[in-house]
Amino acid sequence: MSVKIAPSILSANFGKINEEMAELEPYVELFHIDVMDGHFVPNITFGAPVMKWFETKLPMDVHLMIENPEKYVEDFVKVGGDRIIVHVEACKDKRAVLQQIKDLGAEAGISIKPKTSVSEIEDVLDMVTQVLVMTVEPGFGGQKFMEDMMPKVTQLRELKPDLDICIDGGINAETAPIAVKAGANILVSGSYIYKSEDRLAAIESLRV
Ligand code: DX5
Ligand code: ZN
Repeated sequence: MSVKIAPSILSANFGKINEEMAELEPYVELFHIDVMDGHFVPNITFGAPVMKWFETKLPMDVHLMIENPEKYVEDFVKVGGDRIIVHVEACKDKRAVLQQIKDLGAEAGISIKPKTSVSEIEDVLDMVTQVLVMTVEPGFGGQKFMEDMMPKVTQLRELKPDLDICIDGGINAETAPIAVKAGANILVSGSYIYKSEDRLAAIESLRV
């Protein structure tokens, strides 16, 4: 399975977000869009009215770190979200939310925080094209990679061999090979790419 790089724009300059995305566009496979509400996580980013202005031609995975995702998934599909990823910890009825996303014509993904085990989402693997395994506590960029999450990746790869398994948090040139070896095929990287002096070299260093 070839590895895809998904820059997280959380660490980009939002004053010129379209330039920040365009610069990387020829060198990556998709973008990772972090939405935070100040409730599910202790930080706020932006909502659909801001995402509406993102101009990239690449697919956008929307990582919803929000309470009551069922209220907002439609908005994020309307503004161009190709895959909507909800946190199982935020879903009152995970099957219903995932079905809602699929009915809107988008792909559905589900995410688990570090303390959440694979058993919490095993029953919905048939509904999703991606599982996003958090390797930091969600909320902030620039945190340290939690290698002890890797058994979850390996477990997921065994359960569903064609699943997109995405790793989010602390990915850099040292941790990327660990994630890929465990079975991940999408690497989200925010601060490592956007805060590098040579962003293209940083991207290439993740391709293991
Ligand atoms: C954290 C976000 C991540 C974040 C990763 O809650 O979900 O996508 O941008 O940032 P880095 O790559 O800096 O750990
Ligand atoms: Zn994310």
